[in-house]
Amino acid sequence: MIGLTLPEIAALYEQRGGEQYSGEPVTQLEHALQTALLAEQEGADDALVTAALLHDLGHLLNDQGESPTLRGVDDLHQYAALPFLRALFADDVLAPIRLHVDAKRYLCATRDGYFEALSADSKRSLVLQGGIYTPEEAKEFIAQPHAGDAVRLRLWDDLAKVENAVTPSLAHFVVSIEAAQRPESVFVESPST
Ligand SMILES: [Fe+2]
Ligand SMILES: [Fe+2]
Repeated sequence: MIGLTLPEIAALYEQRGGEQYSGEPVTQLEHALQTALLAEQEGADDALVTAALLHDLGHLLNDQGESPTLRGVDDLHQYAALPFLRALFADDVLAPIRLHVDAKRYLCATRDGYFEALSADSKRSLVLQGGIYTPEEAKEFIAQPHAGDAVRLRLWDDLAKVENAVTPSLAHFVVSIEAAQRPESVFVESPST
């Protein structure tokens, strides 16, 4: 079975979370925790906090090395984690993860100053990811289920690159992750209870 369990996700962050987030002054784990904390502080529900925490898990599953954008490579990390998470979570978690890159294309098209404020790496990857949406594409994007959550996630994502910011540890977010799990996956994970 391809799916990850919660302990396996925690182990991935333990093993690879210390890696630098491409072109940013934070590690993968710091970026994940900062994004989840912003979601929590803004009153996001458990599913969206979980999506915020895990939105870049694909980077930990991919092995593309440092700043693949510099080599002209789109790592497609928004899709990489989905097959591994499908057994645990439904679309309220998976869709914002899947759409968080397209949400950047949407925000560039619809929000003044958004593109200009992106980091250099984010601007570089935008081109590889398909570029800024046309008004028509932006309309189609935001009409999709969970697209609004993906946009919220994207805005936290952009802010979650602060060097040495203080956040709770991964353990703090386990309550939200467990609450966001598919009921049947909780049952499968705890057959003896
Ligand atoms: Fe991302
Ligand atoms: Fe991110």
